Amino acid sequence: MKAAEKGAEVVHDALDRPRSISFKGATDLVTETDEASEKAILGVLRSHFPDHALLGEEGGVSGNTASEFLWCVDPLDGTTNFAHSYPAFAVSVGCVRRGVPVAGCVVEFAGGPHAWVTRTFAAHTGRPTTCNGKPVGVSKVADVRRSLLVTGFGYEHDEAWSANMELFKEFTDVCQGVRRLGAAAVDLCHLSLGIVDSYWEYRLKPWDMAAGVIIAQEAGATVTTMDGRPFSVFERSMLASNTALHPQILERTGTKTKALLAAGVDLSPWFVPPGYDWGAP
Ligand code: IPD
Ligand code: CA
Ligand code: CA
Repeated sequence: MKAAEKGAEVVHDALDRPRSISFKGATDLVTETDEASEKAILGVLRSHFPDHALLGEEGGVSGNTASEFLWCVDPLDGTTNFAHSYPAFAVSVGCVRRGVPVAGCVVEFAGGPHAWVTRTFAAHTGRPTTCNGKPVGVSKVADVRRSLLVTGFGYEHDEAWSANMELFKEFTDVCQGVRRLGAAAVDLCHLSLGIVDSYWEYRLKPWDMAAGVIIAQEAGATVTTMDGRPFSVFERSMLASNTALHPQILERTGTKTKALLAAGVDLSPWFVPPGYDWGAP
């Protein structure tokens, strides 16, 4: 929590300052704030957990990769939103044990210009998720026709991206709405609050998911891959929903994902730090 809060201080100080932006890809941005936030977060983690492994979005792998504990750091999730001052971005710090999330903290920035506010989500295996210190829980919506859903689309416009465009259409046709906010950690926190009922996305990275997944799970969500297999942060698809709704969402995401696999699309684990033993299946 302390690490994520340090990153959030950096982001907070940058809110009203001009953005210094560079490009990682055609549309994939990075700002000086991403880098400064990661530096602040890693400083805290290194001093508290010198024996653990670290994986930061901007700086990559460091620390002791022989450890079973790996910290996954997204110093600014929703960078495009941050660059535009659109209010859906966050600082996300998660700890995984052999690839499975066990603790996490997300500081969400909401409200927008003239009204910025933050809320802090925290979770730990076996303890209820909290938002600003108060317990939260997923919704009870059990019928897809009554649900509000959220998804995301990565920067790479490949077959999985196209398949999710189709899913977006399919679900828009049968539910009350599909949102696309642009910050995976925020989407998972919103699931934990019960204000959306399910969230899925292809090709997220460990730092996008580690904290948000444990936050959603300890608030009562079921989390699997989009074809229903057990989740690890190295998977290239993720589906998280309130447990009652999960099978109805899985029915459609599963069909689509199996078709991708049958067409030879690579959905095998990625971003596993060299030397890190996560008990690969
Ligand atoms: C992105 C956001 C977005 C998701 C992308 C991520 P970034 O992270 O979480 O919602 O759709 O797949 O890469 O680049 O803003 O940290
Ligand atoms: Ca991210
Ligand atoms: Ca990021």
